[in-house]
Amino acid sequence: MFQVKADVIAKEEIIPGVFNITLISPEISKQAKPGQFVHVLCGEPNDSFILRRPFSIHRVVPGRAFEILFQVKGRGTEALSKVKIHDSLDVIGPLGSSFKYSEGIKSALLLAGGLGVAPLLFLAEELTEKHILFHAMLGAQNKAGLLRYIDFKRLAKKTYAATEDGSFGHDGTVVSLLNRTIHQLRPQIIYACGPERMLQKVSETADEFGVDCQVSIETKMACGIGVCLGCTCITKTGYKLACKDGPVFDARDIYWGKSNIEPVSLEQYGYETEEIANSD
Ligand SMILES: Cc1cc2nc3c(=O)[nH]c(=O)nc-3n(C[C@H](O)[C@H](O)[C@H](O)COP(=O)(O)OP(=O)(O)OC[C@H]3O[C@@H](n4cnc5c(N)ncnc54)[C@H](O)[C@@H]3O)c2cc1C
Ligand code: FES
Repeated sequence: MFQVKADVIAKEEIIPGVFNITLISPEISKQAKPGQFVHVLCGEPNDSFILRRPFSIHRVVPGRAFEILFQVKGRGTEALSKVKIHDSLDVIGPLGSSFKYSEGIKSALLLAGGLGVAPLLFLAEELTEKHILFHAMLGAQNKAGLLRYIDFKRLAKKTYAATEDGSFGHDGTVVSLLNRTIHQLRPQIIYACGPERMLQKVSETADEFGVDCQVSIETKMACGIGVCLGCTCITKTGYKLACKDGPVFDARDIYWGKSNIEPVSLEQYGYETEEIANSD
């Protein structure tokens, strides 16, 4: 783990409100593994927020740079979307757990809902490098929201798309597409990232078909390094920290729908609610 001042060398607004930023950091890019994240201090140097914001490592140029793909949600990401080329960002990383796979794996499925492509493109590139074949399934509200479709199409054995408005690919959710195709694809393992409800359904389907499944979950994080206990979640194997033990978990370890991936109240650990809500 490093704390670095990383210069922005590229920035692109992929679709309205979704940005890709490339940051120079030989240290982070050398160590990063797919599924890990960085914790970024957002805002102007003299006016940055107290709490950093976590973002999956989207792609790396080994030994040189890494990318993050993010959607503007609130004050932190709004500020981040304003960075300019040559600006420097204070970044801690790489953090957290990574996706696990064995070299002999024959049939993986990478499944993303919306921004869920963020950690999975890095995984797709690594699997390709290791000559491990995989299928990809991308879901979004509409065709424009299908992020990185062309990249996955280039890397995966076959890339499936699902749009909820039926504008491209399967007409429906990525979960209904999975339910329809899992019999034929019969993956050994599913790697998934996306909204919690989607992950829950994917993990139920995986369980039903006896398929291993790893998910990258998103919880609010304060320190990001296992100190504040603000990201504690209850799993079937005990209390876990989403920032340190996760964000990648075995789906079978998660109590879905029981606010399992909701964080324990940060106030319990000395953070003021107001601080979190307003001044971070
Ligand atoms: C391990 C991890 C990896 C992530 N990777 C990405 C990524 O690659 N791309 C991306 O766009 N987003 C990612 N997120 C979510 C991202 O961190 C939040 O969208 C961001 O922190 C919101 O900050 P904000 O100040 O703009 O929003 P706020 O003003 O703090 O909140 C705006 C909205 O975002 C929600 N939110 C705030 N913090 C989080 C959080 N940590 N996780 C989920 N929702 C949150 C709030 O509930 C609220 O609805 C990741 C989160 C985690 C935990
Ligand atoms: S965010 Fe502080 S322990 Fe995980």
